[in-house]
Amino acid sequence: LLVSSMLIMPLNSISAASDTTSGQYSLDFSTASYTQKTMTVNGQSITFRAYENVVYVSNPVDTKYEIMNIYVPEQYYEGGTIGSYSADTAPIFFPNSIGGYMPAEPGSPGQGMGGGNNAALLALSKGYVVASPGARGRTTQDESGTYTGKAPAAIVDLKAAVRYLRHNDKIMPGDAEKIISNGTSAGGALSALLGASGNNPDYEPYLQAIGAADERDDIFAVSAYTPITNLDNANAAYEWEFSGINDYSKLEISTDTDYHIQRKTVKGTLTADQIQVSNELSAMFPAYVNSLNLKNANGNALTLDENGEGTFRDYLKSLVISSAQKALDSGTDLSDKSWITISNGKVTDINYDQYVQYLGRMKTPGAFDALDLSAGENQLFGTATTDTQHFTEYAQAHSTVADSTMADATTIKLMNPMNYIGTESTDTSKNWRIRFGTKDSDTANAISAILATTLKNKGYAVDFALPWDVPHSGDYDLQELFTWMADLTG
Ligand code: DHB
Repeated sequence: LLVSSMLIMPLNSISAASDTTSGQYSLDFSTASYTQKTMTVNGQSITFRAYENVVYVSNPVDTKYEIMNIYVPEQYYEGGTIGSYSADTAPIFFPNSIGGYMPAEPGSPGQGMGGGNNAALLALSKGYVVASPGARGRTTQDESGTYTGKAPAAIVDLKAAVRYLRHNDKIMPGDAEKIISNGTSAGGALSALLGASGNNPDYEPYLQAIGAADERDDIFAVSAYTPITNLDNANAAYEWEFSGINDYSKLEISTDTDYHIQRKTVKGTLTADQIQVSNELSAMFPAYVNSLNLKNANGNALTLDENGEGTFRDYLKSLVISSAQKALDSGTDLSDKSWITISNGKVTDINYDQYVQYLGRMKTPGAFDALDLSAGENQLFGTATTDTQHFTEYAQAHSTVADSTMADATTIKLMNPMNYIGTESTDTSKNWRIRFGTKDSDTANAISAILATTLKNKGYAVDFALPWDVPHSGDYDLQELFTWMADLTG
């Protein structure tokens, strides 16, 4: 196994691979190394033990990121219970902080983006053990400038963190058979990939290289907000969805000379060349959708014809109608949206083309595999020594970069949950919650719909919805998230 695995192992991990038996870091959780903390949740004080910056592999490549923060309610050390949970039965909430496929440090309980309690703090208050993993990302480098976080590093790290929790299940409060992963965007994609690919041996050589615990890495449940996933098909999906929308509004993030992060919206119109690329990519999407043999809840095939029309598009429209209906039922005024037809309190129709206009195009073609290698995802698929690569045949064939290269097929496969759901030698998570807002244009809504439908068709429990008018974001409906988790574990 070691010999064959060396061939597909990233260069940067070969030295680590030779030393997996005597790692630099112990995989045994040190129960005494904590600080006690108290925080207030809705007027109630919560005391917990904080085990922070725990290295979760024996041969880490980067101890800034291959670490986990673990938080345990103090009651569990006194034989107490919280709700229906005890030290033995408490589920482990596993939120990652990954965004943009960038490196991420572990998260901690506290305030959320909107000012309220974040998911980790709320989880503690409800009796969950919280384990928040860090992971390497697309820009991670070592001292010599070698890239150490290119694909598949982030998913390998998350799996290693899961294995660490299982390795220490007996001595740590919480039930490692009840790990619930949570993430948003790239973090949502990695949450989904973690759940899809449990125990699949494809990842084994990479896990061995960093000295991951020799344990299973399947998880109990997946929460994924706006997963930027299925990247090798997302280029075509995006152009199919935004076909004919030639004006775009791009968010550009840069750093100024003082290293301050600058965000600005850049408006533009696709050039004739870009429109041609859009048309060519869009034309590739129906064959992909049809190859999946998706079915709706009534068993009817979800397909697209060569013009990009068909039952799959009707299904997306029905999801947006359901979303609008839910908003209407909860008192949202929809009267300013002329593309929605409402009759007697029922959303009877929407004009889907006008909905897509209102949603608006954010990215230019190719949205994820950019022809000039400028997308974040091009950087994700780099190597130890090459910063950016293509990962679709189309972009490589039409690249505007003379000496561009393409990621190897194994790496591309390892990053896409669609390759693993319910496959042989895989223990795909049984429980899923997927959310993608109707005002999110960071990827096509088709990507979440394909993921959710594939899971449903293969018999997994999936709670999938497009929340009304929600832009690219996550953790905005924590009450509903926690109800879903309680229903699974209570
Ligand atoms: C994220 C957003 C994107 O538009 C993308 O392509 C990848 C990741 C993010 O927010 O994590």
